Amino acid sequence: MFAARRNRFRDAMGPDAVAIFLGGRLVTRSRDTEFPFRQDSDFWYLTGFEHPDAVAVLRTDGGPPFTLYVQPRAPEMEIWTGIRPGKEGAIASYGADEANHVDEFPSHLPNLLAKLRRIYHVLGRDPAIDTRITEVLESMRLRSRQGVAPAEEIVDPRSILHEMRLFKEPAELEIMRRAASITEEAHLDAARMARGGTNEFELQAVIEYAFKRRGASAPAYTTIVGGGRNATVLHYITNDQPLVDGELVLIDAGCELEGYASDVTRTLPIGGRFDGPHRALYEVVLDAQLAGVEASKPGATLGAIHDLTVRRLVEGLVSLRLLAGSVDDLIANETYRRLYMHNTSHWLGLDVHDVGNYRSDGEHRSLEPGMVFTVEPGLYVSANDEHADESFRGIGIRIEDDIVITDSGCENLTASIPKAIDELEALVSLR
Ligand code: GLY
Ligand code: MN
Ligand code: MN
Repeated sequence: MFAARRNRFRDAMGPDAVAIFLGGRLVTRSRDTEFPFRQDSDFWYLTGFEHPDAVAVLRTDGGPPFTLYVQPRAPEMEIWTGIRPGKEGAIASYGADEANHVDEFPSHLPNLLAKLRRIYHVLGRDPAIDTRITEVLESMRLRSRQGVAPAEEIVDPRSILHEMRLFKEPAELEIMRRAASITEEAHLDAARMARGGTNEFELQAVIEYAFKRRGASAPAYTTIVGGGRNATVLHYITNDQPLVDGELVLIDAGCELEGYASDVTRTLPIGGRFDGPHRALYEVVLDAQLAGVEASKPGATLGAIHDLTVRRLVEGLVSLRLLAGSVDDLIANETYRRLYMHNTSHWLGLDVHDVGNYRSDGEHRSLEPGMVFTVEPGLYVSANDEHADESFRGIGIRIEDDIVITDSGCENLTASIPKAIDELEALVSLR
């Protein structure tokens, strides 16, 4: 899988080119403790190499097609931090044609850049490497009388790579299906605990326990558990308040499995009943969400899906008297943004807000098979919204599924996580 991607990338590089990819590094959390290591997504996509401080080089200039620069084996360090593959492991387990120690990389640059038309490199990630590359190119320029000529272009590899990442291969979709299944179990476990007096962090803990229990490495983003008015804070992650019977709890939680994210939101009735304004507003969001999923097919655009969900939301808000006026005017003037202030969709993959262009030539691009994205409309009535009837204030609702475009329409990876009112009421009431 990784080798096939490297071949595709090399095919796109053109001849006489070198591509340099810097792996992720350990990041200090405090004093001498570090955040858990998470490989850079682009680096992972091309190498599957899960250790810090590596560099990958792909070449089409006749040199070794794939070189990995890795941390050396160090038995005294490995006692503390675990086995490092070293140069031998880089070749034997990761398919490198050549492997070197990462400390040697700067000194290899003059040879590496000797006879090239083009260098693929992301500038700005490591100023020391950028400077070294510039020095090498400048010193070549000074030797032009000896027939030496530096590469003329430094090109950002991400325009090629992110277009590749946007279209998921069958093996990637298989991982994303498994991530969805783990996420389903986590949301079901949490739903059964959604009752008054339980704390938001208990639901978070149950969700993240399910992730780990089923083999996911971590949440794909910080879990959001917002009871009552906390659900109107879009990125509420404090998660430390007790739930209150009769209110709603918004849970936005997804796991990371083999690097791939799921991203799912459900909004549940605490105690087991959707009543009054909660039910009315929930029906509006659910109607918009179902319409958005239904519209997800080849040839559609995320822009069109967003416009459709906005229209459904605005129609619902007008019928609930949360907005007044003509639907077209409310949309044209963006009056609804007080209650729905985010987009409906984003790409999903190795990153939760995954890479890939959303537009081409300024227009929303057409959806094609293999693209994966979320459909996640919501409504958020601020607790201080003086335009809203008091009974609606402090209610936040979002419903979010993960969608793959197929040849004939779409596959909803997270369809089996309940979202219908009667299903959620039954689930929350299960003890
Ligand atoms: N969980 C982040 C998002 O829904 O975009
Ligand atoms: Mn999302
Ligand atoms: Mn989400």
